[in-house]
Amino acid sequence: MSAVDGLRRSDAAAETESFGAALASALAIGDVLTLHGPLGSGKTCFVTGLARGLGVRGRVRSPSFGLIHEMSGRLPLAHVDLYRLAEREAEGLGLEELRERAVLVVEWGEKLPSALRQDALAIEFRMLGTDSRQICACARGERGVALWNAWREIETPRRPA
Ligand SMILES: Nc1ncnc2c1ncn2[C@@H]1O[C@H](COP(=O)(O)OP(=O)(O)OP(=O)(O)O)[C@@H](O)[C@H]1O
Ligand SMILES: [Mg+2]
Repeated sequence: MSAVDGLRRSDAAAETESFGAALASALAIGDVLTLHGPLGSGKTCFVTGLARGLGVRGRVRSPSFGLIHEMSGRLPLAHVDLYRLAEREAEGLGLEELRERAVLVVEWGEKLPSALRQDALAIEFRMLGTDSRQICACARGERGVALWNAWREIETPRRPA
């Protein structure tokens, strides 16, 4: 009911996590997911689900202290948060090299150098209410489209009537 061409609704943090966990099975090294949306909209929550889906042990912490948090599960996952950086500064972080060996998931992805956004899935979080979010995925490039298709196929958890 909440999936119309990639547009989804989440009514709980656990639901946003479960979307991330479900997308994890479609991921491969070199994939880039850019996450967009205001503070507290659920980006890190989604990454928590991704990490769980990839079998990462331990907690996903917000990488606000560092900029990059690398984790390893079935695949290496690099969680990047560009909130504190200016767009220009993101260019010197070595993210291209990191992409060669990990799945890259980037909060405030609009600050990512455009070369890294060419073939990616952008996921935007909008606040609808305290516990409700609209989550919209948008593809760029061939790999982005493949991931977008995987996103569309994720089953929405059934809620009690
Ligand atoms: N449907 C929902 N999806 C995601 N988070 C939700 C939802 N409902 C409530 N929340 C709460 O909203 C907050 C989302 O925080 P989160 O750290 O994921 O946001 P963020 O987008 O990463 O913010 P920031 O830009 O500060 O890093 C959490 O406290 C979470 O429990
Ligand atoms: Mg965050």
